[in-house]
Amino acid sequence: MQLSIITGQPWQATADVLALPIIGKPDFDGPLGELNRRAGGELAALAAFGELSGERYQAALGAAGDLSAGRLLAIGAGEAETISREIVHHLGAAIERRLAGRTVHSLAIWLGDLAEHVEGGVATVVELLVRGVIEGSYEPKAIYLASVESAPPALDELILIAPGGDAAALGRAAERGRIIGEGANLARTLANRASNDVSPIVLAEAAQDIAARNGLSVDVIEPKRAAELGMGMFLAVGRGSDNPPRMIVLRSGGAGELDGLGRHLAIVGKGVCFDSGGISIKPADRMEEMKMDKTGAATVIAAIETVARLAPGTPLLAIAPAVENMPGPHSTRPGDIVRALNGKQVDITNTDAEGRLILGDALTYAEQLGATHLVDVATLTGAVSRALGHLVTGAFGTPQPWYDAVMAAGDLAGERYWQIPLVDDYVPEMDSWYGDLQNSGSAEGSLVKSGLFLREFRTKPWVHLDIGGTGYFRKPLPFAARGSNGVSHATLVELALAGAR
Ligand code: BES
Ligand code: ZN
Ligand code: MN
Repeated sequence: MQLSIITGQPWQATADVLALPIIGKPDFDGPLGELNRRAGGELAALAAFGELSGERYQAALGAAGDLSAGRLLAIGAGEAETISREIVHHLGAAIERRLAGRTVHSLAIWLGDLAEHVEGGVATVVELLVRGVIEGSYEPKAIYLASVESAPPALDELILIAPGGDAAALGRAAERGRIIGEGANLARTLANRASNDVSPIVLAEAAQDIAARNGLSVDVIEPKRAAELGMGMFLAVGRGSDNPPRMIVLRSGGAGELDGLGRHLAIVGKGVCFDSGGISIKPADRMEEMKMDKTGAATVIAAIETVARLAPGTPLLAIAPAVENMPGPHSTRPGDIVRALNGKQVDITNTDAEGRLILGDALTYAEQLGATHLVDVATLTGAVSRALGHLVTGAFGTPQPWYDAVMAAGDLAGERYWQIPLVDDYVPEMDSWYGDLQNSGSAEGSLVKSGLFLREFRTKPWVHLDIGGTGYFRKPLPFAARGSNGVSHATLVELALAGAR
């Protein structure tokens, strides 16, 4: 797909569809009036008819009259004061998705006044719209179906219309948006693929391919070496399945090398290729969703590729502990005591609290490899989805300045987080009769306790992103297909790129 920038007026664009964001109620005094006039009054007619209310993501297709575009697509952006980076990103995706099933080879998007409402101005809006269109073109059914009816169109050309802009700078912003969007889509496909397709070994092979494509170092640790290293929690989860576990380690830059901010950043992602719960087996209802319990791993694997494409050589470590959590004669039993990589004796009271076990060892291992700053991302709890729903990711961290640095990257990425406290007073509730601690305490405060558990397995600044509610959508939204949505990928990319030289 070719990316083009037009710094002239929207009526100069030639494209199959010209998309027009409408901020607030349509106002035909400014350039929208001129577009309306050239379209023979189509926009005003759509507004009068009720097709163009200005409600966010409501999108109306109309005739383009004398304009050189084939059709118009007017789309509500919502009230001016509520527009954010997240909304601009979603707007790009909603435009592309509204065109699903239509014959569209070229799409032009006019920026309108969007840039007045987000920090970063026109370049940011261009980047986010392109990223949105790329992500909006994602069709999960295309993974296993040879042809999909009503898929979003595969565009030959995407044109951004920013009157008076700097074409070269905007071209770079558009390219950045494309690469971040493609990375999110890679993460989505890895996460969406079925468990009979993506085992820990297959996930490791995907990581090796990505390493080869991007000149990254890769180390895949098999159970024998994991045992020699002492990764007792990781192995305890993996042992119940015939598909053996793999600790996947990807690195860009040199071993232990510090980035421009003096960090050796590690991103760690939960890679449970299927979570049945193990012996503490889950109820059948919606268990099929647990193929997406590898979303964190998919996210960090895709993020290190995106960083390598945008700023090759940037120091970054990505670790994805990959396992299948299954019941069977070899499975870990509730009450089994295992020795974690950091030496703690852990009482596995619930085998369904497996994510924290594999992540704990992965965090310790990241520090052994020289990480100075840690972020993990995981579909860790159902509790976070009850608390925050599908649009806000729960985030934990310590010390606070590191948490704030990760949130600054989240702001740039246009992603929403809410901080969950690490309540020290609850730590005694995780005491074990026999070991140093248990992996799952009582249900009260279970979300907080999931973070408290992870905190025991690192010594360096650390943030934990629980995407259990946000990682995948159960129903399609105007801006995303159902299934994995790539959440947190852009946050991790922005965080790593902050240290690029
Ligand atoms: N992968 C699940 C969490 C999850 C559930 C994510 C549903 C998305 C949708 C995780 O491994 C899990 O089973 N967590 C338990 C923890 C409990 C046993 C302490 C949970 O949330 O119920
Ligand atoms: Zn899980
Ligand atoms: Mn589980």
